[in-house]
Amino acid sequence: MTESTAVRVDPSNARMLKAWDGEEGARWTKRAQRFDDGVAAYRDTFFAAAGIQPADNVLDVGCGAGQTTRDAARQAVDGSVLGVDLSGEMLSLARRLAEQERVPNVSFEQVDAQVHPFAEAGVDVVISRHGSMFFGTPLAAFANLARATRPGGRLVLLTWRPFRLNEWITTFRTIFAAGREMPPFDLALSDPLETEGLLTSAGYADVRSTAVNKPMYFGQEVDDAAEFIVEQHGGRLSDLDESTRTKAIETLRADLAEHQTDRGVFYDSAAWLIEARRP
Ligand SMILES: C[S@@+](CC[C@H](N)C(=O)[O-])C[C@H]1O[C@@H](n2cnc3c(N)ncnc32)[C@H](O)[C@@H]1O
Repeated sequence: MTESTAVRVDPSNARMLKAWDGEEGARWTKRAQRFDDGVAAYRDTFFAAAGIQPADNVLDVGCGAGQTTRDAARQAVDGSVLGVDLSGEMLSLARRLAEQERVPNVSFEQVDAQVHPFAEAGVDVVISRHGSMFFGTPLAAFANLARATRPGGRLVLLTWRPFRLNEWITTFRTIFAAGREMPPFDLALSDPLETEGLLTSAGYADVRSTAVNKPMYFGQEVDDAAEFIVEQHGGRLSDLDESTRTKAIETLRADLAEHQTDRGVFYDSAAWLIEARRP
């Protein structure tokens, strides 16, 4: 186990702890509302699949600032929802928001979901919106989640399909690469066959990945969206010379302008809704 602050993580997640309990988590906390707005179009599909019942105990994995945790708790009115995450800062915001919005049946813990000793078979539904793609050892992580899921309980995940199918990430990566080579990269669970093998080996059954494509929101207009995107993805600009950097930002702004609608700046996005059952 690796210890940083008070969080015990599997060594394979030490790098993620450093990022999410550090700069990445700080960036996400500052922009929590924008991230929630960004993927708002997935909300109904995700919760329809989760099918949370009033008495359910729900586990929200990689819950971040906790919007899905609070949403789940509003459905599990006689049950409870535990949100777990690596980021202390995001969890502090999650606790504050749950209090402000008067959602009493939630709790949050800063733990590594891959190894945390959840009560065995205590969870009716495990949910995760983009929080299950970062495990250092995915098989161990999903086996741990399967152990926490009661027989007949379910797992419902939202993950990204390959980046080449996601207009938003392909566009921003290409612009910020500014002609440099882009290493091929996809997040975990982007291949449904691999996902099926992984989740089945971990102890789940009836694994199903359904493609869901939704427009993703980046800001009200070009200035607003450009500021947000440069904040999130612009790290790659730092080692470019001044004029190449300026040109990349101009290219970004022109592209954003082409994606301006009367409701804001939107790009296409492509996700998997992954469902499985604990036999
Ligand atoms: C892309 S964010 C999504 C946050 C949130 N679910 C949302 O939809 O806004 C991914 C989250 O997964 C969390 N995470 C990554 N690895 C984790 C692990 N091993 N255990 C618990 N949380 C983890 C990160 O700290 C981060 O908050």
